Amino acid sequence: MIYFDNAATTLQKPLCVKDAVYNAFDTMGNPSRGAYEPSLEASRLVYDTRVRLARLFGISDPSRIAFTLNGTDALNMAVKSVVDKGDHIITTDNEHNSVLRPLYSSGADLSILRSDRYGRIDYDSIVIKKNTKAIFVCHGSNVTGNVANLKRLSEIARDGNVLLVVDAAQTAGCIDINVEDTNIDILCFTGHKALMGPQGTGGIFIREGIETRPLRTGGSGIHSFDKKHPSEMPEALEAGTLNCHGIAGLNAAVKFIEETGIQNIYEKKKRLSDRFIKGVSNIDNINIYGDINADERTPVVTLNIKNMTSDELCDRLWTDHGICTRAGVHCAPLMHKALGTHKIGAVRFSFSYYNTEEEIDRGIEALKELSEL
Ligand code: ALA
Repeated sequence: MIYFDNAATTLQKPLCVKDAVYNAFDTMGNPSRGAYEPSLEASRLVYDTRVRLARLFGISDPSRIAFTLNGTDALNMAVKSVVDKGDHIITTDNEHNSVLRPLYSSGADLSILRSDRYGRIDYDSIVIKKNTKAIFVCHGSNVTGNVANLKRLSEIARDGNVLLVVDAAQTAGCIDINVEDTNIDILCFTGHKALMGPQGTGGIFIREGIETRPLRTGGSGIHSFDKKHPSEMPEALEAGTLNCHGIAGLNAAVKFIEETGIQNIYEKKKRLSDRFIKGVSNIDNINIYGDINADERTPVVTLNIKNMTSDELCDRLWTDHGICTRAGVHCAPLMHKALGTHKIGAVRFSFSYYNTEEEIDRGIEALKELSEL
């Protein structure tokens, strides 16, 4: 089997991630709820993971990071915390439904920036109004692999005195992000993609001074006689027992990224992705989407073979060649509309640090064969 669906979930994780989850079952009790060793061990692990994530993302106060179930959970918290009915919110057609659906139901007045046929946004088309509250943007498109220019967006947000909320689901662990240098107000990320941690992990960074409005309230281990959930971070956005077994895996994954170097990881994936693009570009009957010549990209390549639906191509890749990809519209309907693929969908190949050049070449060969049917 060849696994090329890493933009959904990375399948191959560093060995230390599996060991950490396994060991956590023997060592971890409930964090922040007891003064005996298994509880303290869980609390230390949670704290250490916050510190490592803060270091990875250029955040000086780790307590501003709350653990969430995944990126979607974090984005729902971001929308709930920031957006009030009648606010003007700027976002883009590159967004995933994890941003679009919470925004649609928020009652906000939305301006959705449209991209060109390569999925590129024209930042000069941004208009800040009197009631503009925030710009919500995905750092990496899960369909095209295009990467947003956060520096430019941050300047626009600062000049317009609006918040910059970044969905880093596709880039956390893949592209170096510095929250404080880039003036990101809220960063949402998931643990199970490029961070190479377990599913059920993720987080939100929320800058000090922004009100937090939790999706869930309940036990926090502090201020138990208060009728209201605590407002201080990270407890404000963490109700109930955390997924410590998952966080143990995330901790090991972030440690692995620190030791390997995020730039080395990025460069290896970029080489694989460039090799794939070069190989498939020479095949007749293939349409490749996105800004494939951009210097900075995530290792995502989406394409179609002419006269074949994306479902059929994806199915044949799996059945005839043992290759895992993702077909359809990838929960990003507006992106597919911009690319003109909303009716047929497209097949997404997404690579990881653990893929090899041999696998890439087998993927190219499979597409060659299928394009000649
Ligand atoms: N959001 C994930 C994807 O793009 C699941 O496949």
